[in-house]
Parts: sequence; C-alpha cells; structure tokens
Amino acid sequence: MFAALCRRSRSPSLRATQLTLRTQSMDRIHIRGCNPLNGRLPISGAKNAALTLLPCALLTDEPVTLRNLPRLADVDSFGHLLNQLGVSTMIEGARPEDFGRVMTLRAGRVTSTEAPYDIVRKMRASILVLGPLLARAGEARVSLPGGCAIGNRPIDLHLKALEAFGAVIEISAGYVRASAPDGGLPGGMFTFPVVSVGATENALMAAVLAKGTCILENAAREPEIVDLCRLLVAMGADIEGIGSDKLTIYGRDRLHGATYSVMPDRIEAGSYACAAAITGGSLELAGANADDMHAILAALRDAGVDVQETKGGIIVSSDGKLKPLTLSTAPFPAFPTDMQAQFMAMLTKADGASVLTETIFENRYMHVPELTRMGADIGVNGRTAVVRGVDRLVGAPVMATDLRASMSLILAGLAAEGETQVNRVYHLDRGYERLEEKLSAVGADIERVSDG
Ligand code: UD1
Repeated sequence: MFAALCRRSRSPSLRATQLTLRTQSMDRIHIRGCNPLNGRLPISGAKNAALTLLPCALLTDEPVTLRNLPRLADVDSFGHLLNQLGVSTMIEGARPEDFGRVMTLRAGRVTSTEAPYDIVRKMRASILVLGPLLARAGEARVSLPGGCAIGNRPIDLHLKALEAFGAVIEISAGYVRASAPDGGLPGGMFTFPVVSVGATENALMAAVLAKGTCILENAAREPEIVDLCRLLVAMGADIEGIGSDKLTIYGRDRLHGATYSVMPDRIEAGSYACAAAITGGSLELAGANADDMHAILAALRDAGVDVQETKGGIIVSSDGKLKPLTLSTAPFPAFPTDMQAQFMAMLTKADGASVLTETIFENRYMHVPELTRMGADIGVNGRTAVVRGVDRLVGAPVMATDLRASMSLILAGLAAEGETQVNRVYHLDRGYERLEEKLSAVGADIERVSDG
C-alpha cells in the first residue's frame, strides 16, 4: 500500500526535484524483518567515484559524458553546484525503470570560481571543485567544510598538496582561496603523511593542467582514484603509476571531452552482501566487480558466507550461521571504513565475539547505541568495538546519523523480529539508489513512509 503512496515519478526531471525535496523531508523506512533475501539485485554506479568524476567537467571546454551515474541526492547536489559555476548539465533519456543515467556536462566557460558555504556544508564532496577550478581558471574560492558526524575531517592535506604544486593558499572568513601564479601551477612533489582519498583526488585534478610535472607519494589507491585517473587519461591527461601509491602527472596545456562509464559501487555491493548474510539468503549482486572488493569478500568468507565470483557479478549466499571476525579498517586495499557499520550489524548475529577497530575516522560508532536498542551486545572502548553475537534482534524505532550508519540499521532491521522504523532517511538517499525498491524486489518487507 505504502509503495503506491510513495511511487516514484516516471519523469527523470521530476525525479531530480523529488530527490531534492527528499533531502529535506522526514521520511522513514519501515521494515518487518526475518525474511531471507533471495534473487538478483543490480549494483549501481559508485557514489564516491561519481562525486570525483563530475568535477572533471570543469577541466575542459568540451562535453564530458558520464554513463552509469547513480540517481542519488548527492549527485543531484553536485550537478547543481556545477551549474552555479557555469557548467551545463543535460540528462539523456534515462528510462525510469533503468538504474543509473547518462549526464553530459559542458563547461564552455567557467562563470564563477566560488563554492559557497550553503552548498559545501550540505555536501562535503563540494571541496572537490577546488583542484579543477584552480587548474582551469587559475583561482578558486571554496568554503571550508568543517566537521561532520563521523569526525573532524580537516582539509589540510588538500591544501598542502596544492601548495606543493605552486598554489598560493589563503584562508579567511571561513573560506579557502587558492590561486596559481601567472594562471598556471608550476608543478612539484608532495608526500602525503596520511593517506587521503579526497586530497589525492583534488591534487590529481589540479595537476593534469599544470605547466610542469607533479608527483604524489603515499597517494590513495582506492578503486575510485583509479576510476578518476582513467577518466582524466580519456580526456588527454598524462598520468604514470595509476593504481599505485606514487602518481606522476605530466601537465598538459588542455584536456578534451570524453565519454566514460562510472565504476560499480563496491560499498553498495558490500552492503547488500551483508544483507544476504544477515538474513540467511542468497543474492546475485549483478554488475559488482570482485577485483575492487578483495578485503570485503575475504571478510565475508571468513565469516562463513559463501561468495562466488561470476562473469556478471558476485553471488553471496549464507545459511544464516555466521562466524565472528577480527577486523580493522585501513586505506585500500585493506578493509574499508565505509563497510565498518554494515559488518558490525551483520556480526551482531554471529556465533561469538567479534572485534572491530576503526582507524580512519575518530567518531564512526554512532550506530552502536541504536543497534544496542535493537538488542545487539556491543561495547566500545576508544577505537575498538567488541560485538558479542546475540540470538535475536528486535525491531525498534531508530535514528540514523550518517550514510553508512543508516545502512547498518537497515541491515539490523532486515534480521530483526517485528518492525523497525529507520528515521532520517535522507542520509540513505544520499548514497543508496532506490534502496527500498531493490530490497523489496528480493523479498524484503520494506516501505518508505512520508510524513507529508
Ligand atoms: C572519502 C570518501 C568516504 C570514505 C573516506 C575513506 C568520498 C566522497 N568520500 O572521504 O566515503 O569514508 O574517503 O575511505 O569519496 N585527513 C586529514 N586531512 C585532510 C584529509 C583527510 O587529516 O586534508 C584525514 C581524515 O580526517 C581521515 C583520513 O585522513 O582521518 C582519511 O580521510 P579521506 O581519505 O580524506 O576521506 P575523504 O576523502 O573525506
């Protein structure tokens, strides 16, 4: 019944409007748990890849076409930010029944070099316009993002890398202003003291149009960085060491347009793998790429979950009997921080005690009190959480604090007896394309309830 109330629009343009409204709405997701999930579940384009591929459009006056872009609130917000900088965005005939869409972006002329506070505070990834604006226009003014629910999240490494390439950085009134002497970055070398995905991305996008050569050491190696490098190379960039922690970028005078398909979302795929495991079901994660997911798949296998790599994706099956794990988050290729909350939910049903250590973000256990309210037995001491498996979880109203924490509550709800209500669904809309639709198609009893 509820599905009818909240049926999604059949028009792509209307959908964009709905998503924007949803980010402000107080929708809830209701789940009646304990149904094993079975069937085929399509994996969307990666949110974190999309958010670094979109600003690449600023690097050329020619059109950049991105395929397999996930339909997410964050992607829409990034599109709106780019519109404000003078980039035109056109969504091509996506059929409503398809996942993903095709967007052509064109920055014929950059009309503004400022990312204002109001946009950056709502979406941290807005900081990723800093590098490309600096490269293309010789200057950028971007609001400092500030902290967020999962930690302080400074951007000092973004700025230090740009400075090492010759940018002049000034901070005043909550904004960072970066400029390039004589309109172009001379080049240089930077060694990251801590691996940073976003700082590597910003530095890469600034470096591709530098006058000289830029070298990044201890760079992030996440698959989303490889995706970014591949698009930049398709646009004419010259990058050596793709996939390694040392990237050498030989600056080019100009880049040209390209058409590129966003990689599959390894975190979405990992999240639904946990859904199969916690409900004792079997899901075919269509389109998932096992090569990007070694640490996630190894952890699932260690937990006793059957994982089969196929030509078209990954099949994850479980009899519901889960073994406890010892896991520590770390930069790629190790176990990702973006999967910590979902594994924690899964391990609440394991046969024994698991130990999880979060090494990337200092405040990423906000889901623990909510899982505990559903009957989980979890103790946190600093960066380490001990999860003692329980026989049953019980549905409850719960409150999500961030994107992956929200997903951990959905997973717990899928395995819990009775009804779970997950509040603050706008977090999920930022990062999981049509979550209720995908889950109900494989047997979940799940619906979105809107207060109006
Ligand atoms: C990206 C992902 C996020 C993921 C994270 C780690 C996007 C949009 N977001 O976030 O989903 O959880 O990578 O895989 O792709 N740090 C500094 N100074 C900086 C930058 C980072 O100290 O200038 C620290 C952070 O506080 C954190 C660590 O470095 O402790 C890693 O952060 P980083 O890799 O930069 O995360 P994001 O790029 O923000």
